[in-house]
Amino acid sequence: MAGIVAGKVALVTGAAGGIGRAAAQIFAREGAKVVVSDLQEGPGAETVKLIRDAGGEALFVRCDVSKGAEVENLVKATVDAYGRLDCAYNNAGVEGAWTRIHECTEENFDFNYNVNLKGVFLCIKNQVKQFLAQGGPGAIVSTASIAGLVGSKNAGAYVAAKHGVVGLTKTAALEYATKGIRVNAVCPGVIRTPMLERMFSVNPKMEQAMIGFEPIGRFGVPTEIGEAAVWLCSDQASFVTGHAMVVDGGATAC
Ligand SMILES: NC(=O)c1ccc[n+]([C@@H]2O[C@H](COP(=O)([O-])OP(=O)(O)OC[C@H]3O[C@@H](n4cnc5c(N)ncnc54)[C@H](O)[C@@H]3O)[C@@H](O)[C@H]2O)c1
Repeated sequence: MAGIVAGKVALVTGAAGGIGRAAAQIFAREGAKVVVSDLQEGPGAETVKLIRDAGGEALFVRCDVSKGAEVENLVKATVDAYGRLDCAYNNAGVEGAWTRIHECTEENFDFNYNVNLKGVFLCIKNQVKQFLAQGGPGAIVSTASIAGLVGSKNAGAYVAAKHGVVGLTKTAALEYATKGIRVNAVCPGVIRTPMLERMFSVNPKMEQAMIGFEPIGRFGVPTEIGEAAVWLCSDQASFVTGHAMVVDGGATAC
């Protein structure tokens, strides 16, 4: 299959729905073999089916990104199945509970930290090890957020973790730039996904307020983030590394 990642092996975490599913489908459309990974097996298998029904190649590997042994196994399972790893999109994430900092529980902070930051750290660590073992090259993209660039009231734990993703991305980019390994992040604005629907179901007034954050006048859709992630992983972005790419309808332009 022709495409900007034709012949490459791509791994996508958090690919059972939302942004991750859209990105997995775009990787496949652009010619990659895709390892679809998530905590949720049923919806993960559905992503695989969607890819195969469209003529692509994919398989599902369950993984909790906050567990080192599971992430190590995920990279191993990818290499066992397809012989190598070329592109990784570390997208799995959680919203946690939204509260002011003085009301944020330790459990909520730890939950955000373990999935949104430690999960990305464990993924980058194991993916880089594989790229080095292969003799390079490789490309990694992680999903940060505009909350990784600016503060956001009621989201202290999430904001702290996503700022960490941007810092880790820049540091990994510097550490492996001479090895042919590029490391970038995407910073979505407000994207209509199951995560957003959960937040609106807890607080229905949030929907109107959040549209107000978007100068473009609407929420983004998952494919608008997936296209950016796949492009960053492709050879078309061969001089791009250490970048936190904003895809936010102008939300951080003001
Ligand atoms: N939707 C938005 O507005 C928005 C904005 C900025 C950033 N993001 C980020 O985009 C990413 C994708 O979010 P989404 O909106 O598609 O949400 P989503 O809830 O629809 O998808 C997230 C996926 O991650 C999986 N996941 C959660 N914890 C996991 C774990 N420990 N191990 C493996 N998989 C796990 C979930 O099962 C789910 O399939 C997240 O990192 C999120 O923080 C989303």
